[in-house]
Amino acid sequence: MSVSLHGRVLLLSLLLVGGVAFAADGSPKLAPTHPSLQLQQRPGHAAIASANYLATNAGLEVLARGGNAFDAAVAVASTLSVVEPESSGIGGGFMAVLHRAKDGHDVFIDARETAPAAVNSKDYLNPDGSPNRETALKGPLSAGIPGEPAGLVLLATRYGRLPLQQSLAPAIRLARDGFKPDARLRGTIADVQQDLQRWPASAAKYLPGGKPPAEGAIWRDPDQARTWELIAAHGNDGFYRGETAQKLVNAVRASGGNWTLADLDGYQAKERTPIVVNYRGYRIVTAPPPSSGGVAIAEILNILSGFDLSKMDQAHRVHTIVEAMRRAFRDHNDYLGDPDFVKMPLDMLLSPYYADGLRQGILPDQATPSSMLPRAEAAEPGMHTTHFSIIDADGNMASITSTVNYILGSTFVAEGTGVLLNDEMDDFALVPDKPNVYGLLGSSANAPQPGKRMLSSMSPSIVIGADRTAVIGSPGGSTIITQVLEGILHFIDGESALQIAAHKRFHHQYMPDEVMVEDGTFDPTTSDALTKMGYMLKQRESWGFMNVVTWDRKTNQLDAASDPRRPSGLGKVQ
Ligand code: DON
Repeated sequence: MSVSLHGRVLLLSLLLVGGVAFAADGSPKLAPTHPSLQLQQRPGHAAIASANYLATNAGLEVLARGGNAFDAAVAVASTLSVVEPESSGIGGGFMAVLHRAKDGHDVFIDARETAPAAVNSKDYLNPDGSPNRETALKGPLSAGIPGEPAGLVLLATRYGRLPLQQSLAPAIRLARDGFKPDARLRGTIADVQQDLQRWPASAAKYLPGGKPPAEGAIWRDPDQARTWELIAAHGNDGFYRGETAQKLVNAVRASGGNWTLADLDGYQAKERTPIVVNYRGYRIVTAPPPSSGGVAIAEILNILSGFDLSKMDQAHRVHTIVEAMRRAFRDHNDYLGDPDFVKMPLDMLLSPYYADGLRQGILPDQATPSSMLPRAEAAEPGMHTTHFSIIDADGNMASITSTVNYILGSTFVAEGTGVLLNDEMDDFALVPDKPNVYGLLGSSANAPQPGKRMLSSMSPSIVIGADRTAVIGSPGGSTIITQVLEGILHFIDGESALQIAAHKRFHHQYMPDEVMVEDGTFDPTTSDALTKMGYMLKQRESWGFMNVVTWDRKTNQLDAASDPRRPSGLGKVQ
């Protein structure tokens, strides 16, 4: 009796409060588009926010030539590869959530890297069995097969309006004619100078004359320009087959890597069904596995939907959110991996019933030590990865997070291609129960296997409400998930694009059991109250650079904000 009453209450909460809809196979099913968006309203103008003004301008240029949000996304991503190679690029991968206005189609684009067929876990172990950070993060063994080119080709050919020649033109022009690297890129190159010196093609590209590019100097990358031209002319064949593929394989194998032509030939970017969660009347469309981000965001929002955060003081609000974060990250570590390889209990993790159970365990005034929740540590994330957000005049939306993983990826450039390889292999659980560079622990679900995608925290999202929409995301390693979650909550609370991007942040990821806090997030009263509840607060310097575009559909006003933590970013309405 009590069970059915409980069940009815829960069913009601599923219908009224939110939750994720499921197909019979347990995969998340698309909830209908938010009724307000079925009006086929168009903003009539466009907005782009990215971490580099040259990339934002490239996207605006392609829109002005008649492209849509997806063509602009190809221009922004390829330009970032040239002007912001420390964060993302041609040798890396991305994840995207797209919304197509004409039919309300929401789709996730998985252009995540894959392990090569010859992947061998022993390559990432020292003789004493401890993790070998060197092979996991530097040089060709650290690189997965790139997804970025295939993802951009898919974006352009299935969703864009323009030929690749046009959407890739700004990147090709900047790579060929040159640009002035900003202080961040010059500083990043200086930080990893010793690594770059180990690989002749890396040194030739990033250390002209043996030194990082000087302030104000024009920097060119003709090899990368040529590789983009081959992609523009031949699509995937321009990268994954033929001349470029052969050069990539030769360079990787000559320096101790194990890629084959078959690895490149077999790479496919994939379309997947996004995760959809409903929270306080908003429909949040976000990243499914092989990202852990959307699952965690959905789980956290499902837990929070049983609380009224607006009635709480700041300390209790933070306490409640941190407890939800803690529980979601525990599950992240234990269950998630590449959906093509592992069976995941998504129906359980995303169900409001499960969230109800987790909510019961949250004490009103006391932190739950992570050690009391069965199972699964964190490093300061380097700010290397990038997110951009676009809404075009027709209401098409692109939310894209792209990465080469750590600082300048593997620091390995494949000779003759201009392709800087990622070091995404570190996102696998290379050594069970040993943290990766972001302190994340993993299980067999995220163990490396030939052709498998490594788990990601990237959480590109679109938030659709009755009158307002936001396209949102951030870099930040494991903190991506919590930063995007906080951005979603701030948007739902009515904040503007700039307020959301600037908002001070905090993070908890189950282990280590501490709340990482940006300077100025909490006033002394809140910090004291949280400490009394049992929280260990730890200041963290680096936070992700969030790029947000919002659309007020009542006034048709677009707003674009680039994170003020990053002076070279640009959010612009056109
Ligand atoms: O896919 C991931 O989760 C990581 N490779 C993202 C890395 C990142 O965000 C780096 N820092 N900001």
